[in-house]
Amino acid sequence: MRHLIDPLDFSVEEIDALLYLADQIAENPTAFQNVCAHKKLATLFYEPSTRTRLSFEAAMLNLGGSVLGFSSADSSSAAKGESVADTIRVISSYADIAAMRHPKEGAPLRAARYSRIPVINAGDGGHQHPTQTLTDLMTIRRRMGSLSDLTIGLCGDLKFGRTVHSLIKSLSRYPGIRFILISPEELRVPDYVISEVLEPKKIPYEQVTSLENAMPLLDILYMTRVQRERFFNEEDYIRLKDAYILTEKKMALAKPNMAVLHPLPRVNEIVLEVDDDPRAAYFEQAQNGVYVRMALIMTLLGLTK
Ligand code: CP
Repeated sequence: MRHLIDPLDFSVEEIDALLYLADQIAENPTAFQNVCAHKKLATLFYEPSTRTRLSFEAAMLNLGGSVLGFSSADSSSAAKGESVADTIRVISSYADIAAMRHPKEGAPLRAARYSRIPVINAGDGGHQHPTQTLTDLMTIRRRMGSLSDLTIGLCGDLKFGRTVHSLIKSLSRYPGIRFILISPEELRVPDYVISEVLEPKKIPYEQVTSLENAMPLLDILYMTRVQRERFFNEEDYIRLKDAYILTEKKMALAKPNMAVLHPLPRVNEIVLEVDDDPRAAYFEQAQNGVYVRMALIMTLLGLTK
């Protein structure tokens, strides 16, 4: 039995196969509409979500399966003090696969240790978000034709943004990747990303504060929101929340075929006018989230068309 807890749980070859399957699904979704007949997905969300939970549910429904679950800790027996270990032991009798989002780093890993069904990490605290990374990889590959030889700019809250940590880990396995890490000093990537991922693999990277200076160099600009829910005090959040706002004026500095990604939700960091720019890929990215999650459910359940 396989789980997906960390973005590196799948090899590069397995990711390539999964993205190929996701592309096939995107081309002809109806061909996959009965693959998960009589299978059930449990969505165990202890933290708010729109895209991840609903795209998982849409994915399972598109595959002909069913969904059950909860969308907040308050509406589950976690509110009465039940542990993640006990919850997943019980859910293992109710469903065939589970997707879990939790504010505590490592909670899905702990669940996987007690589970009799595949567990998918749908985001754990400020740590990792591997299925968002699959969505990002699919979008980058479809836009740029490859996951190699790209300059990737990551901008905003690189400290608390779990999607950033997972994407850096994953893209570091492809040749010719260079990162420009654009953030205020206080919101730089955690030290472990530098010491355990970028430095050992000798991946070229720069840590900078100017988005304008970086724009002409980028193939991908990955914007992120400042993660209010992870701040210890509101004053710091208010001071940093508008550090980077992507405007049409800044887009004019970018390459004609650059792509702008954002895991969403957006707060204020991309002005609405940028949505009409053909380089804005973030709503397409959210759509791709359904296809990669369909491919992931099939892969973890060992199902084929
Ligand atoms: N990208 C993402 O994780 O969005 P949600 O928080 O809405 O699931």
